[in-house]
Amino acid sequence: MQKEKTDFLVIGSGVAGLSAAIELSKHGKVLVITKDIPTEGSTEYAQGGIAVALSDEDEVGIHYEDTLRAGDGLCREQAVKTLVEEGPERIMELISWGAEFDKEGAKLAFGLEAAHSRKRILHSKGDSTGKELERVLINKARSIPNIKRYPFTLAVDLIVENGACLGAAVSRERTPSIILARATVLATGGTGQVYAVTTNPEVATGDGIAIAYRAGAMLEDMEFVQFHPTSLYLPSAPHFLLTEALRGEGGLLLDSSGERFMKRYHRDMELASRDVVSRAIITEMNRTGASHVWLDLRHMGREFIKKRFPMVYATCQRYELDIAKELIPVCPAAHYMMGGVKTDIFGRTSIQNLFAAGEAACTGVHGANRLASNSLLEGLVFGKRAGSAAALEAAGQPDVDGLQLGLLPYSIPAHDEIRGDLRRLMGRNVGIIRSRNSLKEAAEQLEKWSYIEDKVFVTRRELELKNMIQIASLITRAALLRKNSAGAHYRSDFPMKTTNWKSHIGITKEKGPFIEE
Ligand code: FAD
Ligand code: SIN
Repeated sequence: MQKEKTDFLVIGSGVAGLSAAIELSKHGKVLVITKDIPTEGSTEYAQGGIAVALSDEDEVGIHYEDTLRAGDGLCREQAVKTLVEEGPERIMELISWGAEFDKEGAKLAFGLEAAHSRKRILHSKGDSTGKELERVLINKARSIPNIKRYPFTLAVDLIVENGACLGAAVSRERTPSIILARATVLATGGTGQVYAVTTNPEVATGDGIAIAYRAGAMLEDMEFVQFHPTSLYLPSAPHFLLTEALRGEGGLLLDSSGERFMKRYHRDMELASRDVVSRAIITEMNRTGASHVWLDLRHMGREFIKKRFPMVYATCQRYELDIAKELIPVCPAAHYMMGGVKTDIFGRTSIQNLFAAGEAACTGVHGANRLASNSLLEGLVFGKRAGSAAALEAAGQPDVDGLQLGLLPYSIPAHDEIRGDLRRLMGRNVGIIRSRNSLKEAAEQLEKWSYIEDKVFVTRRELELKNMIQIASLITRAALLRKNSAGAHYRSDFPMKTTNWKSHIGITKEKGPFIEE
């Protein structure tokens, strides 16, 4: 089997992976692997923007309070403090590397999104912020000779010996090989693809979280899956995200009779936090039997919509929907994983030499519900921190060598059928509103597929399926154990916050899910 050595291995080339790689390159040779083309990941598709307390009317303390409020009592305060305090410096650094954010006159323009008490969302070309970040970070990484990048290289498993990570087993163009590294950073993004209705790109199958779990790392908060309230609902179209900034600029949610139903759910109406709005929409859809509700932008005027949201406008036009004069059919979609591989604020996991950052990690910064547009910032802040801590830890490590690993590829028939069944099961039973019965039923079905978890695969679809089964099962088991409702986790059989609701749920392979002290 082929073997390659590098100082640092970074798995994933979104905002978190690239931020880590740029930092690590100051200390040695970095190899960034990614399972698709370098830009394919959630970062590239981010629309609304990036939250940062930089406007004249804002303060980091207010950003801190808003983040805690959205997190519904479960944020780790030190992580939030780090995010909001280091955020402005990371943004200024990004601007110095060439990032262009929209301006009003000579000043940066800040947008409003749900649950923010100030306008603080920087955006680029209206609604293409993620693309701009990815462009700038990839160009920066390309300019650094110490960074090498392998696209179409799939991380299959981590190599862990005596409690320390030595690198990863990968499949490069279907050929198994080993990459040895003194430190490894997991930045593989989210898990949206385990749900049939999702805003996430195809790469978001939770690989890094599943891989870390199999290697023995501790996970946390896996029950907290964020559903975005407004994805496009058209039989002929994918569930394209309709950014929250549309509601921030005055977009209205209407039911089939044209009523602004949010007034019955929350005083902040369309700008209540995401969990509140998603739950309200699902409740309305269940009550009326409708497959969607409506988003109304018609009062904004065509010129404003085209200028402020050019990508949303053009995409809807492609599906023959004129959002300047027609109502937009929308429904909630799985969007973001608040949980993941448990880390401290330096990206350290429970395994030596293994670090995690971005959506694959759980620093506790989002608690039970992420504040809109905080995750690009999280990728910048904690990606850099993970890179810097990994370099420090690796400095004292001996060179890794001499390892042999057996990969015996296995293949499963009908894996695409199981994939579809799994994604529908998760939407039906482990979605916005859950109960013991729905979760139990899901857990039993997932158990029937668990034989796949022991197999080794080198083809992407099969490996992804194995990871998706594992992720679905981790979400379901954590959701069963949390017998209360908080943030994005709502149990119809336990709708209130019970006495120990502030505890986090950890999961390891050895112990299964457990309530942390
Ligand atoms: P990603 O950007 O998803 O990158 C993951 C990387 O890992 C990819 O390169 C992928 O190919 C690679 N990878 C995965 N598995 C493997 C494997 N097994 N082997 C090798 N490589 C692998 N957040 C905001 O703050 N503001 C927004 O406006 C916003 N809008 C969004 C819009 C959409 C449509 C979506 C889906 C998300 C949005 N988010 C937004 C969330 C945010 O984009 C993500 O949380 C963030 O970009 C995650 O960054 P990341 O670096 O952790 O992961
Ligand atoms: C959006 O633009 O609504 C997405 C923002 C986010 O997920 O933070």
